[in-house]
Amino acid sequence: MRGVFITIEGGEGVGKSTQGRELARRLRAAGVTVLETREPGGTPAGDRIRDLVLDPAAHMAPVTELLLYEASRAELVSAVIEPALERGEFVLCDRFYDSSTAYQSYGRGLDPDLVGTLNMNATGGLRPDLTVYLALDPDHGVPRATTGGADRIEAEPDDFHRRVLAGFEAIAAAEPDRVVRVDASGDVAQVADRVWDAVSSHPAVGALLNGFW
Ligand SMILES: Nc1ncnc2c1ncn2[C@@H]1O[C@H](COP(=O)(O)OP(=O)(O)OP(=O)(O)O)[C@@H](O)[C@H]1O
Ligand SMILES: [Mg+2]
Repeated sequence: MRGVFITIEGGEGVGKSTQGRELARRLRAAGVTVLETREPGGTPAGDRIRDLVLDPAAHMAPVTELLLYEASRAELVSAVIEPALERGEFVLCDRFYDSSTAYQSYGRGLDPDLVGTLNMNATGGLRPDLTVYLALDPDHGVPRATTGGADRIEAEPDDFHRRVLAGFEAIAAAEPDRVVRVDASGDVAQVADRVWDAVSSHPAVGALLNGFW
């Protein structure tokens, strides 16, 4: 049986990595095999792209940035995500194509059709079964993400992060069956409980999990 593909999305410092780890722990406790990965990165080529794309010293035109994220994504899907899904595993990915829509289209102002076309081609049409969108105001998320220094994206001004937020909100509103919006305010344990409620009750996941219980 084919596995389940879950992505975690949201702006800077909203808790994607923290909540991803906790969600993976709970899924494993429920008896499923989980592969955790992230974007950009998750492959040797992708990790090198990550270093470049997040380097505060790198100059990058918006379309350069888009193509680098898409290149990392194409490699991750073909080398890591698709094989794991074919093995029947749960794949948990920290960011995926919604981040390109939110950051490169809403944030940078690139043509949404271009971003959509590249998203489609980089993924070979792979769509998450479920996307957990962690919703948090940039006033709370960005400072968390930048203690210890800001990467090239985190260093963008507040209006950029607000456009990204609007992008994620629009995606969540447009695809309510795939994207579950979770309030990411409050402490880590509170958010983790909200994430678990959303994931374990989702049709793409709930039925499979019940098979293990
Ligand atoms: N609910 C929370 N309350 C307070 N601090 C939190 C909460 N969740 C995460 N943090 C802290 O905020 C920081 C950012 O969290 P995390 O790395 O999980 O976010 P992220 O969305 O993955 O960030 P990035 O966009 O940088 O990848 C970390 O130091 C983490 O410990
Ligand atoms: Mg993170």
